[in-house]
Amino acid sequence: MSREKTENLFWHEHEVSAADRRTLKGHEAAVLWFTGLSASGKSTVANIVDKKLYSKGTHTYLLDGDNIRQGLNSNLGFNPEDRTENIRRIGEVSKLLVDAGLLTITAFISPFRKDRDMVRKLFPTGRFIEIFCDASIATCEERDVKGLYKKAKAGEIPEFTGISSPYEKPTNAELILNCNEESPETLSEKVIQLLEERGLIKNPAKPD
Ligand code: ADX
Repeated sequence: MSREKTENLFWHEHEVSAADRRTLKGHEAAVLWFTGLSASGKSTVANIVDKKLYSKGTHTYLLDGDNIRQGLNSNLGFNPEDRTENIRRIGEVSKLLVDAGLLTITAFISPFRKDRDMVRKLFPTGRFIEIFCDASIATCEERDVKGLYKKAKAGEIPEFTGISSPYEKPTNAELILNCNEESPETLSEKVIQLLEERGLIKNPAKPD
């Protein structure tokens, strides 16, 4: 940010800290950052994880690309600059939600490695969990739940990820989900297991 924009701003420390909020909620806060092609299964798995966490009494919030782009980010398109801004804003929103003590789940294509890494840097170590929904273009095209691959191939959607715009696979994801072969239910359990292993939620098999 330019100096003129920041020089007359002051950071206010709040009386209620992020740690206080976590204590009140009784669990840790972090962001589960799902990334992958359109129709790879991000939203489906994220939704199941959200529901499972909710039923365990965990305070969560789910941010989804298709929804956020109809509100907060409705002024953004799909060129690389707009996608970067999309992810920057969602990174900042996630940071606020994590500060508020929520296990925050995001489901955005987030195709560029540098953008995902930029968001990772907003969080302390271990609080940004990148989850790669690994599905091939062939799988996604075959599913084509929204009919977008068909349109993109017909040249009706410019800069469509995987067809006419790149997707850069993660190289340091905390979890890789095989979305070609395994069911969303099985994959959601892998996410829950990871959260238990990392002590972000309680493991009922290991009471403290
Ligand atoms: S991101 O690339 O900026 O992270 P985001 O996850 O917010 O994308 O939005 C992706 C959703 O927008 C897709 O699931 C699809 O429904 C829709 N969409 C519309 N146009 C495009 C496009 N050109 N490329 C990818 N997705 C698109």
